[in-house]
Amino acid sequence: MEKYLGSQHRFLQAALDGVADPIMVVGVDFRLKLMNRAAREYSGCGDRPVAELPPCHQLIFSLDCPCDQVGRSCPLREVVRSGSRVRVEHDQVMVGGEECSFEILATPLFGENGELFGIVESLRDVTARKQMANMLRDEQERLEQRVRERTAELMQAGQLAAIGELAAGVAHEINNPVNGIINFAQLLADDSQDDEQHDILRRIIDEGERVADIVRNLLAFARQHSDQESDEVAVATVLDNALALYTHQLAKDGIILTIDIEENLPLLRLNPQQLQQVFLNLLSNARHALNQRYSGKNPGKKLAIQVLLHNGADGRFVRTKVTDYGTGIPREIIDHIFEPFFSSKKPGEGTGLGLSISHGIIKGFKGHLRVESVAGEYTTMMVDLPVA
Ligand SMILES: Nc1ncnc2c1ncn2[C@@H]1O[C@H](COP(=O)(O)OP(=O)(O)OP(=O)(O)O)[C@@H](O)[C@H]1O
Ligand SMILES: [Mg+2]
Repeated sequence: MEKYLGSQHRFLQAALDGVADPIMVVGVDFRLKLMNRAAREYSGCGDRPVAELPPCHQLIFSLDCPCDQVGRSCPLREVVRSGSRVRVEHDQVMVGGEECSFEILATPLFGENGELFGIVESLRDVTARKQMANMLRDEQERLEQRVRERTAELMQAGQLAAIGELAAGVAHEINNPVNGIINFAQLLADDSQDDEQHDILRRIIDEGERVADIVRNLLAFARQHSDQESDEVAVATVLDNALALYTHQLAKDGIILTIDIEENLPLLRLNPQQLQQVFLNLLSNARHALNQRYSGKNPGKKLAIQVLLHNGADGRFVRTKVTDYGTGIPREIIDHIFEPFFSSKKPGEGTGLGLSISHGIIKGFKGHLRVESVAGEYTTMMVDLPVA
């Protein structure tokens, strides 16, 4: 009988040793009852008899307590809970200084009376498979991102070209008559004694100016890509010129303007008209946001402009910050504000080209136009222009 049992045992051991993955039989007390050669090699326990070996979590994963106490699934406990075969994964297991991932298959062993007396565990190193899957996922994400960017670029390029052509043609046609309308209405308004008539004429002028504004925007858009003369300019001077066109409007709306310009800023080589166009767009957006938040005067109706030298990782910049404490920009739309034709304004109030034009211009200067905003609190538009 002993001889028979011995030969059965050797047969079982030889069969298990023939399997390349580590295989162990573990009792409900976490003690090892049997293991194959691969398991011995993996755990480094040599030829020590199983009865002398530490509990499985210590032998295999160098843990002082069962795996589920350090946030990993314990195959034994999972089997006890489910009463059937389970598969668990252990990630970030340190083996010889490297992070590995294991897949553990655990099958219950039942005694004659149906009581569980242990499990058979097989361990598989799935590190390479996981790394490959992660690499593929990263690569796929990168590709998808690239496709999104490329599509956006192509869409924008297409739109720009089409709009540019259209704008250049139409804008000139519209510009003269509109200015005519504004001038004639102004003449009539100056002479008019009748309040009602005066009011109507005022509205004609206002609406006319809006049309002129849109045309100006379209023209700027069309001109965006054509080369324009650049000059040595001081950002502060360009800003002053833009504000000269705007301070009256700001004051009329009760907007409190503060300006803070650092001294001795370097001159930059760029086209001042284009930069002025950017500042005008930013001021116009800020004014609109402030008027949306406060219809009349209010101590909080503030617009703060700062110009300073910024030393970035990618060089030195003259940074202009335009901060308005108006409506702020909701998170849902902030990613879209630089897209051509994106506008949250009522139909007829905005073309949605302001920021897209500005972005194009600043990019042409090899600078950055960035936004930072908290809805309901403030918006900061930041223009960074490189110092040559
Ligand atoms: N300072 C700001 N505060 C709040 N929202 C802003 C601000 N600046 C831009 N936005 C948001 O970005 C959108 C796009 O701005 P953009 O200047 O491109 O177009 P627009 O102002 O709507 O139209 P247009 O400039 O042609 O009059 C705005 O409609 C608004 O939703
Ligand atoms: Mg705008």
